[in-house]
Amino acid sequence: METVLIIDFGGQYKELIARRVRECGVYSLIKPDTLTPAAVRELAPAGIIFTGGPNSVYAENAPVCDPEILNLGIPVLGICYGMQLITRLCGGKVGSCDKSEYGTLTASLSACALFSSCEGESQVLMSHGDRVTEVPEGFRPLAYTDLCPIAAFENPERRLYGVQFHPEVENTQRGTQILHNFLYDICGCKGGYSMENYLNEQIEAVRAQVGDKRVLLALSGGVDSSVCAALLSRAIPGQLTCIYVDHGLMRLNETDEIRAAFAGRDLDFVCVDASETFLSALKGVTDPEQKRKTIGRLFVETFEKESKKHGKLDFLAQGTIYPDVVESGTNSAVIKSHHNVGGLPKEMGFEGVVEPLRGLFKDEVRKLGLLLELPESLVWRQPFPGPGLGIRVIGEITKEKLDVLRAADAILRSELIASGEKADQYFAVLTNTRSVGVMGDGRTYDYTLALRAVRTNDFMTCEFARLSWELLSRISSRITNEVRGINRVVYDVTSKPPATIEWE
Ligand code: XMP
Repeated sequence: METVLIIDFGGQYKELIARRVRECGVYSLIKPDTLTPAAVRELAPAGIIFTGGPNSVYAENAPVCDPEILNLGIPVLGICYGMQLITRLCGGKVGSCDKSEYGTLTASLSACALFSSCEGESQVLMSHGDRVTEVPEGFRPLAYTDLCPIAAFENPERRLYGVQFHPEVENTQRGTQILHNFLYDICGCKGGYSMENYLNEQIEAVRAQVGDKRVLLALSGGVDSSVCAALLSRAIPGQLTCIYVDHGLMRLNETDEIRAAFAGRDLDFVCVDASETFLSALKGVTDPEQKRKTIGRLFVETFEKESKKHGKLDFLAQGTIYPDVVESGTNSAVIKSHHNVGGLPKEMGFEGVVEPLRGLFKDEVRKLGLLLELPESLVWRQPFPGPGLGIRVIGEITKEKLDVLRAADAILRSELIASGEKADQYFAVLTNTRSVGVMGDGRTYDYTLALRAVRTNDFMTCEFARLSWELLSRISSRITNEVRGINRVVYDVTSKPPATIEWE
């Protein structure tokens, strides 16, 4: 497949660059800076992009790639640090700026292949403390800003290009056009990467891998496992068994919605109602980590026990996605694991693992889900922790508390969606605090409910969402009127850090 390699020098935008390239219709892969020229030849990319990075190119531990990569005849575009690295490797000079440039600035772009249809002045995002002070031999400058006389360069004979600014971010006005020019006019890409084509290729690949054998999937109802199930039911109709473990800690009507989404598909959907087992094991458990461990262990046990009832299942399917497997210069082959359902043990004796979403970013998985006609509510589902409402009922979990929380949470979610106000994750938490209230003429002594809504890109940090007073007031009034057991509603106004998104 026509591919462009993104070599990672530690910049924060490597995934964004990879996604932008894909949005231009060309498949991209992120590789570490240790990639050898032989490995590059084997991958035979149409082009290479060097990412930015926080270092100075002359610093002792500054990341460098094998300089031979620049001599393979494959077009290279260096972005920010990437441009400075090309400069260093080709004999030019990099120096520190008298004044760092951070933010959106006006740049003047010359007429050339890289800036075709973008010539003249336009806004670009700059974020650097160093800059190229002398272009290497055979290169010519292509752009300047007030503070940066060499803001881009090219050596068309060697097919090497550099930009000091970031074409991948939205603040760079003509950024997409510049990437498009590099991909199509300089690298000669043909395009054609799309979710339709990815789907067709994966259908073929899964059929080749699985043949007429049977596949098992742990369906959590999250976006990744749902899209994986929909794809597999199309690729190998009748050969897929999905086991969905209902631990009784799901949100209001969620199990029915998941069941309905898979009802018309050619797969065996097994819903195990294990709520009694989970609730009795959780009786008296109040420590958050203990809750997580209990739920995780029971999930695996229930799944294994159920899977044995369905005859020989040869392959295990998983909804692993590209950010989980990406190798990068800074975090070599880090695998994110804590969000995967249960962490199924390897020794379940499968012939192999089927991972048809392994090449995709989250936004692409969502596009694929829509293409596979999954309901929007499932495709846009916000992250929901594996332990479910178990970590949103503070203290001991009981069926009664769960029902109260489910009703209140459903009100919060529907009001927030109806308001159009923005939050990336939002939910209710049933605290373990009771307080005195008055209802009618009577005294109440009921639970306090906390509302949580956050804005975040990566869920590693967050800001609390600035919801309007009107919305908060509507939610509070509906909950105290409609949900018995709650007489006080509070809004969580902490960010992460110092808090976390979930309360437990
Ligand atoms: P925290 O609370 O750590 O949450 O700020 C960050 C994101 O991770 C989700 N989360 C979990 N997901 N199992 C999961 O699958 C867990 O035990 C778990 N704990 C937190 C949380 O909902 C948020 O999106």
